[in-house]
Amino acid sequence: MANWFMKTIYSVILAINSILYPASVFSTDTEYGIGIGIADITGPAAEVNMMGYAMPEQKSSGIHLRQFSRAFIIEDKNSSNRTVFVSIDACMGAQSVTLEVVKKLNVKFGNLYTEQNLVISGIHTHSAPAGFLQFVLFQVTSLGFVNQTYTALVDGIVESITRAHENIVDGNVYMNSGELLESNINRSPSAYENNPAKEQAKYKYNVDKTMVVLKLVDADGTDIGMINWFAVHCTSMNNTNGLISGDNKGYASFLAEQHFNKGVAPGKGKFVAAFAQSNLGDVSPNTDGAKCIDTGKPCERNSSTCDGKVEKCIASGPGVDMFDSTKIIGTSQYKKAMELYTSATIKLSGPVQFIHQFLDMTNMTVKYNDTYKGKTCKPAMGFSFAAGTTDGPGAFDFTQGDTEGNAFWNAIRDLIKEPSDELVECHKPKPILLPTGEIDFPYAWQPTIVDTQLTRLGQLFIIAVPGEFTTMCGRRLRDNVLQVLVANGLKADSTKVLIAGLSNTYSDYITTLEEYQVQRYEGASTIFGPHTCQAYINQFKALAEAMIKNTKLPAGPKPKLLLDDQLSFVTPVIYDGKPIGKEFGDVLTDVVADYKRNTTVSATFQAGNPRNNLKTGATFLSVDYQDNSGKWIPRYTDADWSTKFIWKRTSTILGQSEVTIEWTIPSDAPIGTYRLKYYGDHKQAVTETVHSFEGVSSSFKVH
Ligand SMILES: *[C@@H]1O[C@H](CO)[C@@H](O)[C@H](O)[C@H]1NC(C)=O
Ligand SMILES: *[C@@H]1O[C@H](CO)[C@@H](O)[C@H](O)[C@H]1NC(C)=O
Ligand SMILES: *[C@@H]1O[C@H](CO)[C@@H](O)[C@H](O)[C@H]1NC(C)=O
Ligand SMILES: *[C@@H]1O[C@H](CO)[C@@H](O)[C@H](O)[C@H]1NC(C)=O
Ligand SMILES: *[C@@H]1O[C@H](CO)[C@@H](O)[C@H](O)[C@H]1NC(C)=O
Ligand SMILES: *[C@@H]1O[C@H](CO)[C@@H](O)[C@H](O)[C@H]1NC(C)=O
Ligand SMILES: *[C@@H]1O[C@H](CO)[C@@H](O)[C@H](O)[C@H]1NC(C)=O
Ligand SMILES: *[C@@H]1O[C@H](CO)[C@@H](O)[C@H](O)[C@H]1NC(C)=O
Repeated sequence: MANWFMKTIYSVILAINSILYPASVFSTDTEYGIGIGIADITGPAAEVNMMGYAMPEQKSSGIHLRQFSRAFIIEDKNSSNRTVFVSIDACMGAQSVTLEVVKKLNVKFGNLYTEQNLVISGIHTHSAPAGFLQFVLFQVTSLGFVNQTYTALVDGIVESITRAHENIVDGNVYMNSGELLESNINRSPSAYENNPAKEQAKYKYNVDKTMVVLKLVDADGTDIGMINWFAVHCTSMNNTNGLISGDNKGYASFLAEQHFNKGVAPGKGKFVAAFAQSNLGDVSPNTDGAKCIDTGKPCERNSSTCDGKVEKCIASGPGVDMFDSTKIIGTSQYKKAMELYTSATIKLSGPVQFIHQFLDMTNMTVKYNDTYKGKTCKPAMGFSFAAGTTDGPGAFDFTQGDTEGNAFWNAIRDLIKEPSDELVECHKPKPILLPTGEIDFPYAWQPTIVDTQLTRLGQLFIIAVPGEFTTMCGRRLRDNVLQVLVANGLKADSTKVLIAGLSNTYSDYITTLEEYQVQRYEGASTIFGPHTCQAYINQFKALAEAMIKNTKLPAGPKPKLLLDDQLSFVTPVIYDGKPIGKEFGDVLTDVVADYKRNTTVSATFQAGNPRNNLKTGATFLSVDYQDNSGKWIPRYTDADWSTKFIWKRTSTILGQSEVTIEWTIPSDAPIGTYRLKYYGDHKQAVTETVHSFEGVSSSFKVH
């Protein structure tokens, strides 16, 4: 009787709960195995060019936020199929990185994780060290390959996947999506507006506003992780910034992980939140738009110039400076992601599948319809590529929207390589500045073979694309893949297709055929020519069809890992020096005795070069709090938003440098006694040995 009674009560409770909390509570049936891991991939924090703006003077000189790799393994418990999605706080995924990561995973795990089921997608921060791509064009401003950047990235990615592998638990994945406004704008509207009017009329905005969120929980319904995708450049920090940072997405991840991992240092907690990239080609976070910085007036719209020059036409906002803008755009992504996470109810169920093919993009026949076709070309960059964008303009007299070129730069270019007639014809109307596909000296300038890949998690299909698709090319791609899936029996209203941008291989931009005609920066950087977008649409349709029909496709031509060819002109650390009478770690400018919250504490130390030791998984600084027993407890690291680690060379010849540690005291920091601590390493001349040292500020009170 009692037993029967309890059972009835229990099932009533369960029923009520499943109405109140349809998502997770009390659901013990789990669909997937889920493994999550995070690891540090921070590159050299001194003297290495930052990847993205191609600005030779923009070199790393400290850390604002550490870079992390966030790995998510999803296992289908019926078939044992696994996929791995990795989001990295770097400018992009890269062929050199993917190939090497797969090699290392092969040594550790056999054939469990390969290029077939591994996606490595970059968040596209423009504030992280360069030198990890194996092609010449991407190494020009970084003075070649930078092994330290590359090794930190490869090893960290492998580490994050290994941690995810060791953490697999039974769980469920819930999906949600919604609109995030006031966080992105189109930076090339004159190209977007060249798309057919009928097509534009289907959309309310000229950029995608949809954020898709996955909520990952274990068998008890406990929160274990989040992945979301939203299309926006990580260019809130501009091309004058030297502090390593994950930009707006890095900050959003920091906020989400701090929310779930209370009191735990960034990158050390269990809950992992990836803010991943999507079709961001023409999408800027600088929502105040482009203005002439001298007059405050709008730039000339088609060419993004002020008085005929691009240098003064710069987009910024919405904040008072670039840190503030990063904070605002990061916070808005974080808030929307949390809202969608909390209310996610669509449970993913069904098979985990994946399909991948290497594709030679240089000479494909591209069919649009029964009457129209084109072909792809060997890589080439157009004149407007050198104009840069309104997020970070180029120099000289290059402008956006250039379909003519000019004789002077043609002559300079011809000193490097004159493009063949065939290449010129193929890329029209793009005037070719650099015939990258026809130069092989000292090694390849751009990729010719790319990864194409589609992953399925139940109702969700993730298209991993090897570059930066514009808004409209991305929309066409998603729609076409969805049509194939629906034609093969999936339901249109429950099937979701999304784009994971900058994945596996980096092959610059991909615009629509119509946008290409306008030759803004994105069109000029569409390296395989006018039909690139349609070529990918056809390819991903074929992948979707093969996945659903379970047909095997050939692997395609495997690209080469060019590590043996790489040249590097980055000077290594020769030695660290210090002025007579000073020791490494000595405080040069000390803190004062008292601070209010929301003000900035700072101290300067005699320093060593941060390249002597990247402090992977550790920190260059700590803000220590003194507890009741007098013990110093580290409370903040160099991965916290509230701290800045700023390195400055004071004498090149004498090898001398200084470090400033800044801490803007958060409004929720406990009052009490604190100190700043610096963890450095210096390199000795002649012996070339590296020695660790520490520096400590005086203690100070926070009121
Ligand atoms: C800007 O480009 C559009 C087409 O994209 C064209 O119609 C318009 O005339 C151009 N404006 C100027 C000032 O060149
Ligand atoms: C970068 O942002 C800072 C404000 O943080 C501003 O002073 C500077 O002019 C900007 N520079 C460029 C090139 O956008
Ligand atoms: C595994 O099989 C069960 C029973 O057929 C099904 O309900 C479930 O959705 C399947 N899971 C996956 C991940 O395909
Ligand atoms: C994964 O599992 C499904 C069955 O759910 C199977 O059809 C598929 O071929 C498997 N492999 C791949 C690579 O997707
Ligand atoms: C491209 O492929 C066609 C055949 O489809 C061939 O005739 C042509 O020579 C190729 N062009 C190049 C540059 O390889
Ligand atoms: C075929 O595609 C081209 C390029 O998008 C387009 O201009 C043309 O109108 C299309 N023709 C048909 C019959 O759909
Ligand atoms: C990078 O450095 C490691 C040692 O840290 C070395 O084993 C490797 O060969 C180097 N790779 C290249 C391409 O220089
Ligand atoms: C902190 O200081 C800034 C100016 O430095 C101000 O804008 C902000 O409102 C302050 N915040 C708090 C919580 O006092």
